[in-house]
Amino acid sequence: MTAAISHFDIDAIRAQFPILQQQIEGNPLVYLDNAATTQKPKAVIQAITDYYTQCNANVHRGAHHLADEATRRFEQARDTVAAFIGARDRSEVIWTSGTTEAINIVANGIGQRLQPGDEVLVTEMEHHANLVTWQQACKRSGASLKVAPIHDNGALNTTAFTRLLTDKTKLVALPHVSNALGTVNPIKTLTAEAHAIGALVFIDGAQGIAHGGVDVSDIGCDFYAFSGHKLFGPTGVGVLWGKKAVLQDWPVWQTGGEMIAQVTYQSSTWGELPNRLEAGTPNIAGVIGLAAAIDWFNRLDLTAVQTHERRLLDYATEQAHGFDGLQIVGTAADKIGVFSFLLEGSHPADVGFLLDKQGIAIRTGSHCAQPLMQRLGVPGTARASFSVYNTLQEVDALFIALKKARQMLA
Ligand SMILES: Cc1ncc(COP(=O)(O)O)c(C=O)c1O
Repeated sequence: MTAAISHFDIDAIRAQFPILQQQIEGNPLVYLDNAATTQKPKAVIQAITDYYTQCNANVHRGAHHLADEATRRFEQARDTVAAFIGARDRSEVIWTSGTTEAINIVANGIGQRLQPGDEVLVTEMEHHANLVTWQQACKRSGASLKVAPIHDNGALNTTAFTRLLTDKTKLVALPHVSNALGTVNPIKTLTAEAHAIGALVFIDGAQGIAHGGVDVSDIGCDFYAFSGHKLFGPTGVGVLWGKKAVLQDWPVWQTGGEMIAQVTYQSSTWGELPNRLEAGTPNIAGVIGLAAAIDWFNRLDLTAVQTHERRLLDYATEQAHGFDGLQIVGTAADKIGVFSFLLEGSHPADVGFLLDKQGIAIRTGSHCAQPLMQRLGVPGTARASFSVYNTLQEVDALFIALKKARQMLA
């Protein structure tokens, strides 16, 4: 039942995550809240410690050894990200504080050009970050927000999506992977369709990035954004990748040091990408930590990682089918990493509480997707989300704990 994954040393992987070794309420920690944030391997913790103990200095502006070394590590991280996501030009990699800030940068750029009559197309499965930001950009500009429907199983209704694309559509913004349901969207095909009518395409990659294999050049989108903390890296750092041709003449996002070319008391001119979108002192330790996370992830066999994650989800789904009163929420054919569910007769928050008492960490609630919960007619869900370090035994532990929770709630 819980056979080892061939050429995939799960024990060796788990040994690299100190936080996973602890007990919660007398039970071994079973961390199944990876869609909220992933845990950090020693290599990431060490890279951040090394920066602070070996070369803490500000980047780009110092005239001394520490500043040179900090700048070298910081800019090397940009190369690491560019290679990881298949970006052709390192200056298209913009550091942000996370996915949310990346979406706001794009909304600031596009938003200033949106006009009444223009349309922005999102989907019913958006995280609030990729919904509220566009909703507000539309309100400010007089543009209309269109919402592509999903099927009841959580898959995007691609026929309706296509029908909603018109010559008024200026931007399509959609998630690579839904955080609440795990649905994987066919982003390459949808991007091609959107481009055919002249729209720009923004992909919210917050959940897509951690499963590997993202190639922005192959997808063909105009922007792809993600957060470091969902990719084994630190919080407070993320990436906006955007096509240079689009980004380079956009209005700037924030003003201040680093992003300028010439300044007088009367006026200023802006620098080139990426600096023009990176005002002020960046999260240097975060950037270095994120690069360490990518280096760590790159050392794994990607096919084995994806097979392992697929197996965890399939195994949980199989177990759920034999579990009375459990309803899976989100059953799209193409799905990854997320197991959202309801237990008949109980509120997700109570389920989460009783699992926590048994050492199992899941998330409950609307998952920052209130309109999606309304669309599905559910109060929220309980969500177990898997990562590379989870095991089939942990899926067993989840169902044993659920059985106990069900008895207690009965
Ligand atoms: C699909 C999706 N988009 C956007 C975000 C926002 O990410 P962050 O809070 O790291 O900016 C999240 C976070 O859960 C997410 O899952």
